[in-house]
Amino acid sequence: MNISVIGTGYVGLTTAVGFAVQGHKVYCVDIDENKIDLIKSGKAPIFEENLEENLKKVLDKGLLIPTTGLSSAIQDTDISFICVGTPSNDDGSIDLKYIYKASEDAGGQILKDKDEYHVFVIKSTVVPGTTEEALKVIEKASGKKCGSDFGMCMTPEFLQEGKAMKDFFEPSRVVIGSFDKKSLDTVKQLYKYTDAPLVECDLKTAEMIKYASNSLLATKISFSNEIGNICKKLGIDTYKVMEGVGLDNRISPKFLNSGCGFGGSCFPKDVKALIAKAKELGCTAKILDEIMNTNETQKTIVVDMLKDKLDIKGKTVSLLGLAFKQDTDDIREAPAINVIKALLDSGATVKAYDPKAEENMRHVYPDIIYTKSAKDALKDADACIVLTEWKEFESLEDNDFNGIPIIEGRKVLSSSIKNKEGICW
Ligand code: UDX
Repeated sequence: MNISVIGTGYVGLTTAVGFAVQGHKVYCVDIDENKIDLIKSGKAPIFEENLEENLKKVLDKGLLIPTTGLSSAIQDTDISFICVGTPSNDDGSIDLKYIYKASEDAGGQILKDKDEYHVFVIKSTVVPGTTEEALKVIEKASGKKCGSDFGMCMTPEFLQEGKAMKDFFEPSRVVIGSFDKKSLDTVKQLYKYTDAPLVECDLKTAEMIKYASNSLLATKISFSNEIGNICKKLGIDTYKVMEGVGLDNRISPKFLNSGCGFGGSCFPKDVKALIAKAKELGCTAKILDEIMNTNETQKTIVVDMLKDKLDIKGKTVSLLGLAFKQDTDDIREAPAINVIKALLDSGATVKAYDPKAEENMRHVYPDIIYTKSAKDALKDADACIVLTEWKEFESLEDNDFNGIPIIEGRKVLSSSIKNKEGICW
C-alpha cells in the first residue's frame, strides 16, 4: 500500500519507518525542512533504539520518502496517518490546532483534486470527539463526503519511548476506531503483520481507550509511590510488597515501581487533558487530580531528604540522570527539571550527568555543570541524587561515591553501595 504519514515526531517517524520496513512505500511529511533534510540523510531527530538502523535501511531501498510536499504525498497514497503534535494549553487542556490544520491542509485543497477514495487516520493522542471534528473539517474544506469519498479512522498509539520500534512490530493490541467499514478494512489490512488482539470500535471509543490506558498506568505509579512513602515510614520494603501484590494476575507486576514520579510526553499531558475534558463536561475527576498532585510532590521529595542530611547551601550536588526515564534523551516533565530548580533555589551547585539527555537539559538549564561521565559528576561532590534508571549506573561502586550521602529517586544502584537512602526504601 502507499502510505503518507504527516508529522515526524516519535509517533509519526516510528510509524513511517515501521510501515516502510513492512514493505510499503511511505511518504513521511513534515513542514520543518531541517528535520526532513536530517531524516533524508539517514539521521533520526530523536534517540530511539533501532530507529536509525531501520531508517537507513528503508531509505536505501527507496521505501521511505521524506518530504515537505504534502500535496504529492496525498496524491500518491491511499491512506494518510495524521501524527502531528497535540501540546497542552496553560490550563492543561489539549491544543488541537495542529490536528485541525493538518486535516484542513490534507483534506481540503488536496482531496478536492483526487478522485480515488482516500483514508485518513488520526494517530496523535486526541480527546474524544476530536476525530469527528477533524472529519467535518475535511468535509468542509474538500466538499466531499466521509464514508463515500473518503474514510476516517482513529488508531491510538501505545508506544513507549525507548522501545518505540519494538512496540510498533509487537504491539500489545491494535485499536481501530472507524467511521466507515471500507476504511476499517483498509487499516486492518495494514496491521495484518501482527497477531496482536484487535479492538474494533467507533472513533470516540478509540480516543478514550488511549486516555484511559495512560491514566490507569499513571494511577498505578502514583498509587505505588503513595504506598512506598507509607512503607518507608514503617520500615517495610515496598518493592517486596509490590512483588507480592503484582503476582495477582488481575493486577500484573508492571508499573508498580515507586520512585521520584512519572514524567515524559504522555502521562502528565494526557492525565491533565482528561481532567480538563472532564471539567468541561461538568464531571468530577478526583482520582485523576490526585494522580497529578501526588506525582508533583513526589518529584522533589529527594531534595527534602537530602536537606535532612546536610545543609546544601554552597554545596555541590551530583545529579545522576536527567532524562525522564532510561534509554531516551527526552526530558519533558522529567523530575530532574524540578529537582534542579529546588537545588538551585536552596543555593546548591549542580553537577549533572546523563548519557543522552545533556543537550536537551542545556536548553532548560544552560548554567549548571555538565560532565561526560557519572564518575566525573561525583568528583568533589558533597552529595548525590540519582534520578534515572540508566543501566550504566548499576555498575558504579562504593568507592566512586567517596562516602558522600546518596539519595536514590530510582532503585538502580548496586546493593554494595553504602551511605544511600531510597525515596521509598
Ligand atoms: C507512556 C506509555 O507507557 C505508552 O503506552 C504511551 O504511548 C506513552 O506514554 P512513555 O512516556 O514512553 O510511555 O514512558 P513509560 O515507560 O510508560 O514511563 C513513564 C514514566 O513512568 C517514566 O518517568 C517512568 O520512569 C515512570 N515509571 C514507570 C515509574 O515511575 N514506575 C513504573 O513502575 C513505571
